[in-house]
Amino acid sequence: MPPTSVTVFGLGYVGCVTAACLAEIGHIVTGVDRDEHKVQNVREGRAPFYEPGLEDIVKSNVAAGRLRACRTAVEGLEQADIALICVGTPSEPNGNIGLDQLRRVTAEIAAELGKRPRSFIVAIRSTVFPGTCEEIVLPAFRHLPEVHVVSNPEFLREGSAVRDFREPPLTVVGGDNPSAVKTVAGIYENLGVEPCLVALRTAEMIKYACNAFHAVKISFANEIGALCGPLAIPALEVMDTLCRDTKLNISPAYLRPGFAFGGSCLPKDLRAVNYRASRLDLKVPMLESVMESNHQQLVRAMRRVDELQGRIGVVGLAFKENTDDLRESPVVTLLEHLIGKGREVRVWDPHIRLEAIYGANRDYILKSIPHIGRLLAPNLSELTSWGADHLVLTQKPSEDLRRDLTASGLPVVDLAGWF
Ligand SMILES: NC(=O)c1ccc[n+]([C@@H]2O[C@H](COP(=O)([O-])OP(=O)(O)OC[C@H]3O[C@@H](n4cnc5c(N)ncnc54)[C@H](O)[C@@H]3O)[C@@H](O)[C@H]2O)c1
Repeated sequence: MPPTSVTVFGLGYVGCVTAACLAEIGHIVTGVDRDEHKVQNVREGRAPFYEPGLEDIVKSNVAAGRLRACRTAVEGLEQADIALICVGTPSEPNGNIGLDQLRRVTAEIAAELGKRPRSFIVAIRSTVFPGTCEEIVLPAFRHLPEVHVVSNPEFLREGSAVRDFREPPLTVVGGDNPSAVKTVAGIYENLGVEPCLVALRTAEMIKYACNAFHAVKISFANEIGALCGPLAIPALEVMDTLCRDTKLNISPAYLRPGFAFGGSCLPKDLRAVNYRASRLDLKVPMLESVMESNHQQLVRAMRRVDELQGRIGVVGLAFKENTDDLRESPVVTLLEHLIGKGREVRVWDPHIRLEAIYGANRDYILKSIPHIGRLLAPNLSELTSWGADHLVLTQKPSEDLRRDLTASGLPVVDLAGWF
């Protein structure tokens, strides 16, 4: 892509790094900030704060004429095709984010573009909650149909921001106008990273999902470390070894929104960890909250199924596909709930025949639902011919099952997130 003329609003940690690094990969960049000190620093070829490697990039690109700085939108927007908004969105006392800087900067840009309407892209790089572009930014440009708004969240980390810009962990561009989305993705083309092009709200949410995930990872490692301490176990060795499993641990496994977990291991082992932690007088609130989080996922599923009218055919009784283990299956709890509500319900699981299960597995299901035998359908066609009005899928379906569910013509409520 040929060099683009980009104006970066906000020369803070994100904006200054973005402005300098975009200039370094060949774009013509103007940085705008209300803060005279930051503007003056950049003009004089200095980084306005400490960030490894930044000062050199600012200096060389100012000298090369690819990076300049100014204080107002009037000066900043003279030649630009794209505005990257990097203003602050600080936390408010109630946890919400403050959008004053965003409101103000969009109003300034809209006022300036209003004087000379032209084709223009406003890309929001600040972290804003999903819906903010639609609720705050788009309305500011409603009277300017040539202006397109995209979300382009930033993933750099302070302390390694320049390296993160050059080797981004993720490039996400979201928006409704494919040409605008492509243009913004194009400014990062030289970095050689395949951008993820998504919808506007999706881009905003991806940023929050990433940061929440990072925070959860840190707290998880810290709680495991806290547990290792009093047990005289080397926490680093435990976590390093955990990370060596790239099939189940450091991988996409278990990172798909779906139904609640269950089975004979996860609930049991989490309870044991939490019990032992409490015996050690150790607070591990994240690990303690996992069972409750799982319960809430089940409650949400129950509410979804409660809303269905008529007969309910549940597909999948075990806690996951390809097993006949019923111990602590959340589907059993779902069925108990539906039976308790007097709903007409039957269930079919491709791998469960009551006469074939025995021991703790059989005891568990008969104790939970004594008349399960009457509810179990031997196959999908019996479930449908019984008169199910809805099929509720609780497990990952095989390709054959997916086809049969579609062929049934019945509405499928997919609790597992695969359909
Ligand atoms: N700091 C990080 O590591 C990081 C990483 C990823 C994303 N983010 C997100 O990026 C955004 C910016 O973060 P930051 O740390 O760079 O903030 P910051 O406070 O360091 O910088 C914001 C800058 O915007 C300027 N500004 C405010 N209103 C302006 C206006 N109308 N015109 C021009 N400039 C204006 C401020 O003067 C300030 O210099 C936030 O939404 C933040 O959550 C931050």
